[in-house]
Amino acid sequence: MTDHVKTPDTLRSSRWFAPDDLRSFGHRSRMMQLGYAEEEFRGKPIIGVLNTWSELNTCHGHFPERVKDVKRGVLAAGGLPVEMPSLSVDESFTKPTSMLYRNMLAMETEEMIRSHPLDGVVLMGGCDKTTPGLVMGAITAGVPMIYLPAGPMLRGHYKGRILGSGSDGWKYWDERRAGNVTDEDWIGIQGGIARSVGTCMTMGTASTMTAITDALGLTLPGASSIPAADSEHQRMGSGCGRRIVDMVWEDLTPDRIITDASIRNAAIVAMATGCSTNAVVHLIAMARRAGVALTLDDLDALGRVTPLIANVRPSGKDYLMEDFFYAGGLRALMKQLEDRLDTSAITVTGKTVAENLKGAEVYNDDVIRPLTNPVYHEGSLALLRGNLCPDGAVIKPAACDPKFHVHEGPALVFDSYPEMKAAVDDENLEVTPDTVMVLRNAGPQGGPGMPEWGMLPIPKALIKQGHRDMLRISDARMSGTSYGACVLHVAPESFTGGPLALLKTGDRVRMDLPNRRLDMLVGEDEIARRKAAWVAPPPRFERGWGYMFSRHVTQADKGCDFDYLERGFGAVAGEPDI
Ligand code: FES
Ligand code: MG
Repeated sequence: MTDHVKTPDTLRSSRWFAPDDLRSFGHRSRMMQLGYAEEEFRGKPIIGVLNTWSELNTCHGHFPERVKDVKRGVLAAGGLPVEMPSLSVDESFTKPTSMLYRNMLAMETEEMIRSHPLDGVVLMGGCDKTTPGLVMGAITAGVPMIYLPAGPMLRGHYKGRILGSGSDGWKYWDERRAGNVTDEDWIGIQGGIARSVGTCMTMGTASTMTAITDALGLTLPGASSIPAADSEHQRMGSGCGRRIVDMVWEDLTPDRIITDASIRNAAIVAMATGCSTNAVVHLIAMARRAGVALTLDDLDALGRVTPLIANVRPSGKDYLMEDFFYAGGLRALMKQLEDRLDTSAITVTGKTVAENLKGAEVYNDDVIRPLTNPVYHEGSLALLRGNLCPDGAVIKPAACDPKFHVHEGPALVFDSYPEMKAAVDDENLEVTPDTVMVLRNAGPQGGPGMPEWGMLPIPKALIKQGHRDMLRISDARMSGTSYGACVLHVAPESFTGGPLALLKTGDRVRMDLPNRRLDMLVGEDEIARRKAAWVAPPPRFERGWGYMFSRHVTQADKGCDFDYLERGFGAVAGEPDI
C-alpha cells in the first residue's frame, strides 16, 4: 500500500463536518437524524455508492443486493458508505435511444459528487451507457473512484443451442422473416436468450465498455469479466468497498490513473477484444474529459496493428463472456498483450498494470487466442474517410462478409427509419445484392441521440434469395452485438448538412476498406450544386433536455459529449462554499 496522504482532518467531508460553526452543527445534526453516531462519520471516509439501479434496468437487477456487498466492504475498511441513486440509463427500454441520456448521467454524476460530502465513490454500472456516463462525470468531479461493473449474464440457451445477446436475436429474426422459425421456437428463444441478471454476454457495448474501464485501471483487476451471477462478483463488490476507503487515504484520484498511457492501453485492449463500434464514441469522450486528445486516426492506427484475440461473439465465432471468464478473463487477455501495453500505468489498486497481471494465465487458448493465432489479423475497428465522411466513419471489418471490403454499388437512400422499415418489408423493392443501403438523419442531432439503427435490416427481397449481408451506411450507431457490412458514425452527420445529406438514390458509392476510403462517385461541381440547394430540416426539440442536447452535443468523431463539459471549455468548478 502506498503512503497515506490524507488525514481525518484533511478529508473532503471534514469541510462539512469538522468546523465548530453553525453550518457544520447543522450537517452533524442531520447525520444524527439519519441514525449515525458522531464516531461513525467524523473523520471517516464517506463513500458515495452511485447505484444506477431501476426496476426497468434489466441488466442491473442484482444491484439492490450487490450494494450491500459494497457497503460491507466500506464498513470493514473503516469508511461510511452512503448509497446514492443515479440516473438509470437502461439499453432495452429507453427511447428514442439511451445515448440521448448518457450525458445527463455524466452531468448528474459530476454534480452529485461535487455537491455532497463525499470523499470517494464506487460507481455501480454496466448496461451500455452507464459505464461511460458514470466515468465521464467522475473524471471531472475528481475524487477517488472505483468502478463496479455489473458483470455479464450467463450464456443463453434454447433446445441445446447456445444463444448470444443481441447477435442471435438478429440472426433468428432474419430466419423468421425467411419463414424458418415457428411461433413456439420464437417464444422459446425469447425466454432463453436472457436468463440471468447481468449485462449482454456477447462482446457488445456493455462488455466492451467494462473491459475498457478495467484496462484503464478503474476496476479491480479482471473485475469486468466476472459473471453477474457468480459469487465472485459479490466478493468483488465488497473488494471495491474495501479498496475505495484506502484510495481515499492515499488520495489516489482519477487524474493519476487516466493518462495518455492508460487511454492507449484501453484502446489496444478494446481492439484485441473485438470491441463494439460504440467504443469509439465513448472512449474518445472519456479521454477528452481527462484532457487526452484521442482521435479516430489514433484508434485506426492501433486497430491496424492489434490482432483480435478474444474469440467472443459477435466478432469471434464461438464463445460468450462466461467462456471468456473461465478462460482467464481480461487479465489473461491483457497478459497476451503485455509487450504492447504501458504496464507502468497506475491503477485503482495503487499498483501498476504489470503488478496486477502477475500470475494471469490463459486456461483455454481457443477462447483467448495467442497473438500467433488470432481470430482476425487486425483489430476490431477501422476508420474510413472520404467525400461522404470527411470527419470519419467506423466499420467493424471482422464482423462483415469480406466480399464487401472493396465494394461499389448504387445507393438506395432513406431519410427516416420508418421510411426504411416500410421499404425493406416490401418484397417488390428494387434492390440487388450490390445495392448500398443508406439511412440518414440518424446522427447525434438527427436521430436524435444517434440511435443504434446502423445495422439496417436486409430487404426481404434479398433475404428470400438467401442473402444475409450487404453494404449499409448511416450516421447512426449500431448495437455492439450487431454484425454485417455496416458503415456507421458518418461525420459530420446529414441532419446538420454533412455530405451524406447530398447523396441521391442511384448515385454510385464506393468503399475501399484496405485504403480506408468511403466516397460517392459524384463530381465536385454536382456536390457543390446539391449543397447550395440543401435545406436544413426543422429542429427536433423546442424545449427541455433535447433542446439543450441539440445545442451542445458534439459530433461522433469528438465523442458526442457536450461542448461545455469537455476539459478545457472553462475552469472546473472548485469546491463548493459551505
Ligand atoms: Fe443492458 Fe445489453 S441491454 S447491457
Ligand atoms: Mg447494446
